[in-house]
Amino acid sequence: MTKPILVAVAWPYANAEIHVGNLTGSYLPADIFARYHRLKGNQVLMVSGSDAHGTPITVKSDAEGVSPEAVYKRYHAGFLELFQKLGLNYDLFTSTHTQNHFAVSQAMFLALKKNGYLYTERQQQWFSASLGKFLPDRYVEGTCYICGFDGARGDQCDNCGNVLDSTQLINPRAKEDGSTPELRETTHYFLDLGKLQGPVVQFLEERQGYWRPNVVNRSLGWIRSEGLHGRPITRDLDWGIPVPEEGWDSKRLYVWFEAVIGYLSAAIEWAALNGQPEDWHRWWTDAAARAYYFIGKDNIDFHAIMWPAELIGVADEFARTYEGSEGKPLNLPHDVPANEFLNMEDRKISGSRNWGVWGLDFLTRYDADPLRYYLTVTMPETSDANWDWDDFVRRNNNELVATWGNLANRVLSFTYRHWEGQVPQPGALRPADEAVLATVEAGFESVGQFIENVKLRAALGEAMRLCGEVNRYLDEQAPWAQVKSDKDAAGLTIYTALRAIDNLKLLLAPFQPHSAEALHSMLGYHAPLFGEQYTETISDALGEHEVLRYRTAAIPGHWRPSTLEGGRQLRQPAPLYKKLEPSIADEERARLGGATS
Ligand code: MF3
Ligand code: ZN
Repeated sequence: MTKPILVAVAWPYANAEIHVGNLTGSYLPADIFARYHRLKGNQVLMVSGSDAHGTPITVKSDAEGVSPEAVYKRYHAGFLELFQKLGLNYDLFTSTHTQNHFAVSQAMFLALKKNGYLYTERQQQWFSASLGKFLPDRYVEGTCYICGFDGARGDQCDNCGNVLDSTQLINPRAKEDGSTPELRETTHYFLDLGKLQGPVVQFLEERQGYWRPNVVNRSLGWIRSEGLHGRPITRDLDWGIPVPEEGWDSKRLYVWFEAVIGYLSAAIEWAALNGQPEDWHRWWTDAAARAYYFIGKDNIDFHAIMWPAELIGVADEFARTYEGSEGKPLNLPHDVPANEFLNMEDRKISGSRNWGVWGLDFLTRYDADPLRYYLTVTMPETSDANWDWDDFVRRNNNELVATWGNLANRVLSFTYRHWEGQVPQPGALRPADEAVLATVEAGFESVGQFIENVKLRAALGEAMRLCGEVNRYLDEQAPWAQVKSDKDAAGLTIYTALRAIDNLKLLLAPFQPHSAEALHSMLGYHAPLFGEQYTETISDALGEHEVLRYRTAAIPGHWRPSTLEGGRQLRQPAPLYKKLEPSIADEERARLGGATS
């Protein structure tokens, strides 16, 4: 029975380029997980998009003197390019600035309101008379009322690190023009999290057995110590999604309230693009479906508390509000395997200090699979991790090239030389051949289990251990010596090794899709393992949008032992990976912290 699996991936803010920390935090693990489930033959839907609204985008637009729309479009285009080069196979990568997302978000808002989970309340907010507008927290600076630092932002003090109540800032000034703002009253909608606390706690407790302890403990601990209280879900802003109510023209939905709704709206958009508008229900209202949310630890509260609260709150009302059809409740997250952070050469990655490795820049000098490899073996699944350039080179050369790439290349070249590029006819296998194949084939279970439990480091480690076993088998059999005295024995060894490599190719394919696909073709297969990515331009009332899509492979479901047959014609082999010079580590470190190009 194939299962519907929703792979929900964090939506990058379209105000900065993606760095390796972002990649290993959420986008890469999601792709590995999705590729595995596609190979298993499950029904995968992997969605995300650019997070186009909120102050992160408007601050950038003010700083550059261009429209928020221009900011989001520029970074969005870079995301699409990076994901194609790295092979992140989103079924749909869209954005929050689409007509569809506006409509779905507004329907969610109305459904929550109808179910009694929204209320309005007056608040104090800084208002600049000279600018004629309310100032969002990031737009006000002043003296921190906790530590006295003069340069604290309204939402947070960079000196003492405390989250601030902006109305208490001392000597406040508007960031834009330095004017002194005044406190004025403004009314906002609030999500009544207090009312939803019981079901949210129940939701978390039901998942306590299998969620990563840091994710569930942090969420439950926070609720138990603070309790859940109403949170404002509108802002005084003009960039974003209008509040679907008369008299609210000057306000927008809060970016975090609507961005998480993207997981649902993107599924709806995907179904509509395919001409099967009902199809999103497979992942969202079918009780057999499972949703996995791939995010970084800074997003835990929004995915483990806020988003489940929104989903619980709409209950069966969303479908009625949105489609006018009989409603079913929306599925809650099955797992939120949040990752910790990746540091760069022992320091925090920072865009403003240019301390980091950016995806697109990296790919101008190196290949995608070595990056995917290094980011998986160092993936911060249980604690913060560190990118170390020497370690990158070492692992590329000693593990990817020496343990795996050379194994494949050695065996294929040898087959070419002595059997004219055809898989030798095996005859009856010897115990050693049977044994090594059994060892490798057990990987479909062990590697698969690790991936299903989102232990991707362990999964890749297990696949690499099996590569080591095949290397050992080859060294023991030494077909290069056998071939001189007993060509049939050598043929048996090479047949066995080819089949083992065919298996290892699959076990590694979720992690190393480019080299797996290349090897798959060298092994004489015609149909590729995976589908194809492509971009498409969509237009709606808000304008034109470029989205990334995915065409599923013709034959999904390859996750099973190789049945490579004797006599099959192989294609010309070529090395899967390149060895790197150790000196590049120093060159790369010298780039850190320098001026941006
Ligand atoms: N844009 C946020 C970030 O980069 C993540 C948003 S995830 C979403 O931290 F689901 F809320 F969109
Ligand atoms: Zn402070």
